[in-house]
Amino acid sequence: TSDHTGLLLGISFPRLIYSEQGLREVENKFQVRDDDVFNVTYQKSGTVWMLEILSLIHSNGDPSRCRTVPNWDRGPWYETVLGLQTARSNQPPRLISSHLPIQLFAKSFFQSKAKVLYTVRNPKDVFVSLYHFAQIFRPYKEPGQLDQFLEQFLEGDVPFGSWFDHVKGWMGLRGHENFFWISYEELQQDLRGSVERICRFLGKQLDAQAMDGVVENASFQAMKQNKMSNFSLAPRFLLDQTHSSFLRKGIAGDWKNQLTTAQSENFDRVYREQMQGLELSFPWDEL
Ligand code: A3P
Repeated sequence: TSDHTGLLLGISFPRLIYSEQGLREVENKFQVRDDDVFNVTYQKSGTVWMLEILSLIHSNGDPSRCRTVPNWDRGPWYETVLGLQTARSNQPPRLISSHLPIQLFAKSFFQSKAKVLYTVRNPKDVFVSLYHFAQIFRPYKEPGQLDQFLEQFLEGDVPFGSWFDHVKGWMGLRGHENFFWISYEELQQDLRGSVERICRFLGKQLDAQAMDGVVENASFQAMKQNKMSNFSLAPRFLLDQTHSSFLRKGIAGDWKNQLTTAQSENFDRVYREQMQGLELSFPWDEL
């Protein structure tokens, strides 16, 4: 696979698992149900973590389903060719994951009562996570030198396009009652408190024991040990975890170990340009 990614509907997608027809189908034909719950992120922002949390909330903290069904079947990425089939055939209430920018999301969502949970993460950590991921995820092209890959990331010349556009687009829905956002850093700092907020948004009540089940089984360690959540069942032609892992470090602030001062300052400059004037505050702003 030499030409890995292509522009589909103006955004770069890896050709191995996405098709233009599939993307159009998702945008124009996918029937969103009022009881659908969408787990939306820019890639590497905590998608599979939130997927696990939502699966566990649904099962009242009981991990049986999380330990027997792969996460990509529990919360399929509906914009992939296979994920679309799974999303369509899963029983309601459905949990659906997505990295789509808002302009390519299923149109029928906007007339529905379905819920979106949007997870954001410090973009410097997103970048570092993506840099490592791109080295093991076969549908992506090799990222090459970090410095060069950073330029591409800041210009939005990576799969799913610009982090800035993605976040600005989705965060435009804040204030809507079917939209909830949270950061990776908040999940890190206070998982239990975050799960409580998520439950409130979902209208779901968990007793203390169920809450313990969610928090324990959604921990980095528990997920790393769970074959259904650590992607060890993913076929080799998609993911090769011999040199790095999907669940790599699972910390906030790893960018400090990976970016030079100059790279970090360059990042800050682009960040300020792109995010100026937005009345949004994120946990990483004061860093
Ligand atoms: P790192 O590469 O920084 O370790 P996504 O699911 O959106 O692709 O994001 C993957 C990132 O989320 C990886 O970051 C991964 O380790 C982290 N992650 C997944 N589950 C986690 C958990 N339970 N706790 C902390 N981080 C988690």
